[in-house]
Amino acid sequence: MRPTTQHDGPKAAALICAAGSGLRAGAGGPKQYREVAGEAMAATAARVFLDHPRVAAVRFVIGRDQRLDYDAAMAGLAGHPKLMPPVAGGATRQASVRAGLAAFADQAPEIVLVHDAARPFASAALVDRAIDAARHGGAVPGVPATDTICLVGADGARGETLDRGLLRAVQTPQGFPFADLVAAHARAEAEGRDDFTDDGALFAWAGGRVALFEGETRNVKLTTSDQFHDEALRRAGSAFLALGDVRMGTGFDVHAFGPGEYVTLGGVRVPHGFGLTGHSDADVVLHALTDAILGALGDGDIGAHFPPSDARWKGQDSALFLQDAIARVRGAGGVIAHLDVTVIGEAPKIGPHREAMRTRIAAIAGVPVGRVGVKATTTERLGFAGRREGLAAMASATLRLPFREDFWT
Ligand code: CTP
Ligand code: MG
Repeated sequence: MRPTTQHDGPKAAALICAAGSGLRAGAGGPKQYREVAGEAMAATAARVFLDHPRVAAVRFVIGRDQRLDYDAAMAGLAGHPKLMPPVAGGATRQASVRAGLAAFADQAPEIVLVHDAARPFASAALVDRAIDAARHGGAVPGVPATDTICLVGADGARGETLDRGLLRAVQTPQGFPFADLVAAHARAEAEGRDDFTDDGALFAWAGGRVALFEGETRNVKLTTSDQFHDEALRRAGSAFLALGDVRMGTGFDVHAFGPGEYVTLGGVRVPHGFGLTGHSDADVVLHALTDAILGALGDGDIGAHFPPSDARWKGQDSALFLQDAIARVRGAGGVIAHLDVTVIGEAPKIGPHREAMRTRIAAIAGVPVGRVGVKATTTERLGFAGRREGLAAMASATLRLPFREDFWT
């Protein structure tokens, strides 16, 4: 591979190990193809290399039966000019790396970076450090141990405590002069060693010098099922919190009782001696919620978007109005954080229907039921609701929208 003019030194090839079975990560298929909040771990792991100006080629080593998983995981990156076809790995990580190195033989890059698909959070700066360090021999990233570390003694008891200052947790990407790593692997294979869990250890065993450079605490290897769960939660949580423009809107609606045998509230038919009169299905709950959302968006009101004069909305299921408001939130890149509604009237009793209403509203809005509140109150027989002339509903909606440059206008 020829040196570039943009950056000092040679470009590197990256080999990403993804041929493991992820046994410690529990059920759900090989961990590297599982999603961590929105994207397969393998794709996230590859991006930092594909996007890096000093990396010329990226190749995965995958399990023999993993081609479909790989293709699905990498669909968004298919056709990327730096992404080489994957090759089949072996029974151990070491065998997998050996197969990957063989596939790079034609390109004979000066430097190879070996990385684990199980580490999706390496930064571009770490890749730079690996390439820089590998120009002088083998190089592995290490982070200081933060826990106290001890040996396991007899019968699983605590053994000797190790000097933390002397310890480093070794990560990937690890960088090597390509030809030297190929030679070291060939030697390990010839001598029947197939148990090295990283290339730095193998390279040192073969007599090479391996430098340590600064790793990153964020560059964790996702290994256990707990880690998957926590990481997915952390990422989903930070995506939610990143929608930092929090807005609250309110809505209010009234419909009069008329002839009928049920009222529709929150999309649920509630048996009653009367119906509610209105142009649509007169669902005061969904109308108030729709207005609350439109209010939070600063986008008019239900009457502006669905004029009662328009015959199309006659007898209409009011879910359509709420769905339209929700689509406006999504269109603005936002999410609904919470919906809350109070039904105001003497009858019918809402309590027995509360859960059905919450479930229906949550389904229409695409939010968990825990993010929908439904309450009711009488007015102590005062006013139109107290005289049982109709029902009212008041609602609030809390939205989270992305910050935009014009967010204060
Ligand atoms: N790996 C590989 N070939 C193997 C074994 C592992 O390419 N025969 C890869 C894994 O896919 C992973 C990396 O090496 O990206 C580090 O291994 P590890 O975290 O141990 O992953 P798994 O071996 O898949 O998991 P486990 O040991 O829990 O089964
Ligand atoms: Mg393993």
